[in-house]
Amino acid sequence: GPIRAGSYTDELVQTAKFTASSRHGILAIDEQDAEASIGLDNTEANRQAYRQLLLTTPGLGEYISGAILFEETLYQSTTGGKKFVDCLRQEKIMPGIKVDKGLVPLPGSNNESWCQGLDGLASRCAEYYKQGARFAKWRTVVSIPCGPSALAVKEAAWGLARYAAIAQDNGLVPIVEPEILLDGDHPIERTLEVAEKVWAEVFYYLAENNVVFEGILLKPSMVTPGAEHKEKASPEMIAKYTLKMLNRRVPPAVPGIMFLSGGQSEMEATRNLNAMNQASNPWHVSFSYARALQNTVLKTWQGRLENVVAAQKALLVRAKANSLAQLGHYSA
Ligand code: 13P
Repeated sequence: GPIRAGSYTDELVQTAKFTASSRHGILAIDEQDAEASIGLDNTEANRQAYRQLLLTTPGLGEYISGAILFEETLYQSTTGGKKFVDCLRQEKIMPGIKVDKGLVPLPGSNNESWCQGLDGLASRCAEYYKQGARFAKWRTVVSIPCGPSALAVKEAAWGLARYAAIAQDNGLVPIVEPEILLDGDHPIERTLEVAEKVWAEVFYYLAENNVVFEGILLKPSMVTPGAEHKEKASPEMIAKYTLKMLNRRVPPAVPGIMFLSGGQSEMEATRNLNAMNQASNPWHVSFSYARALQNTVLKTWQGRLENVVAAQKALLVRAKANSLAQLGHYSA
């Protein structure tokens, strides 16, 4: 049985199971400057207004079981003085928190990156738990055109495993996210090969760090051809390769696979998820999208109060479509 995660083991398993419940996925809103994409200044007031739009959407909890916040949002309130964490609780949405400190160059590699944030992580996680966070996210990246080098893969996997152990020790379910970037002109077979290598190492080090697999969630990239590859893959092809990779590498003890959208369009991300849920899988296969849930929302909002209701409707449209895709019941 589990030998770590101290007194939190049962709670971690429950949190992960709840977040990975049928028809539900995660809304990722941990980008600090999402408003910048529609030309708004990155001010605290604009960040608050946008989070308020998203997190007070009536009925959001019907499709969304978790929201990934960044630190400011976890401590922030609506303009009416209601804590965002309480808005989420009311909709039965788990508050989550981005805990990595971003990417920096990895010396000795082929122009690759590594992810910072382990220093002081235990005390930050303990504070976030007190504020109401129940899961965490750490995003590192692997680049196919840059290699990936053995060094970059090992560092990504080891960092994720250290983070996961620390998060669990402090009551937070770690979302394990080694994003394999879409960049490159390689075929889908090459992505499969790299993804298998990355996830093998991630699970090797998760086990070495005594992480409780029942109390984690994964946030993988879908296995697709490189963005500049000459042929686009169908949702069926993407589902076939992605599920092949997951079945080879991910133990059934893991409760949920929550994909990132990684620059796919809203429709692509929904169709691909739907294709993955045409047959039954050993884990809950769902979404943790940022851009593929928010592109239309931001365009509709434009920073204007009079557009808030329409923008919230746009969010519900995407959330519902992906909820149906989680069941394999989406049709365009
Ligand atoms: P995208 O879905 O936009 O790739 O974002 C993923 C992510 O890691 C944000 O938390």
